[in-house]
Amino acid sequence: MKKIVLAFISAALLLPMLASASEEGTALDKANIDLNNTASLRRGAKYFVNYCSGCHSLRFESYQRLAKDLKLTKQEVYDNLMFSWGKKKEIGSYMTIAMPPESAAKWFGTAPPDLSVVSRSRGVDWLYTYLRGFYLDKSRPLGVNNIVFPKVGMPDVLWQLQGFQKASFKEVADKDGTKREVFEGFQPATKGSMTPDQYDQAVRDLVTFLAYVGEPGKLELHRVGVWVILFLVIFTALAYALKKEYWKDIH
Ligand code: HEC
Repeated sequence: MKKIVLAFISAALLLPMLASASEEGTALDKANIDLNNTASLRRGAKYFVNYCSGCHSLRFESYQRLAKDLKLTKQEVYDNLMFSWGKKKEIGSYMTIAMPPESAAKWFGTAPPDLSVVSRSRGVDWLYTYLRGFYLDKSRPLGVNNIVFPKVGMPDVLWQLQGFQKASFKEVADKDGTKREVFEGFQPATKGSMTPDQYDQAVRDLVTFLAYVGEPGKLELHRVGVWVILFLVIFTALAYALKKEYWKDIH
């Protein structure tokens, strides 16, 4: 019995490790996000509005909800998270974009997808690796490629912060002799305005924000969860005290 339980536990622990390897076999870096970190969420929202919202919408996220969850006043949301063209919008409106999808598709080959649930479809580690994974590639129309999204249609929009980087690959031969390229590492090509650590943190903030958008209920769940555990602890103590009281005459 003990062995079965142990096997179960180790399988449960191993599964996420297996799942964190991407299809192409490039290892994903851990995002290590903290959904309860309001400062990180706020910075992430700001980065999103400045660098992503021109192309990507968040159809299910309203500015009102943003204000409530990020503990901001309506005025702060107006001043920091809405562009001038967005100010015509009401606080209750959603984070949509002005660009019609048809012209977006014409410019980029693919329309930039809505990112409301991308943290769930791709996972936070994938997002973290993706946003740090653009590299120079002359063979691509936009001059860049991505290590976890080969032939990506999105430009390297954060290059000013990160700087451009090059990627190196080495050739390995499989058992049957077929050769393939395996990613080795990145080398900086131009300097960005941020240090590598600052850039990692900026991306972590962005991913934290996208994870929150994907599951806004999670913030609430965390808070409720604490009370549920507390209730269980108190209830157990009470039940135990009662049991002692009932049985004391019999023993
Ligand atoms: C200039 C327009 C543009 C901007 C700005 C932009 N993107 Fe994109 N993004 C795209 C396009 C186009 C695609 C589709 C790429 C493809 O399918 O090849 C895309 C794809 C993505 C994807 C992959 C979605 C999926 O699951 O396939 C993610 C994640 C993403 N973008 C995140 C971001 C984030 C975060 C920012 C801000 C830092 C951002 N993008 C800024 C155009 C843009």
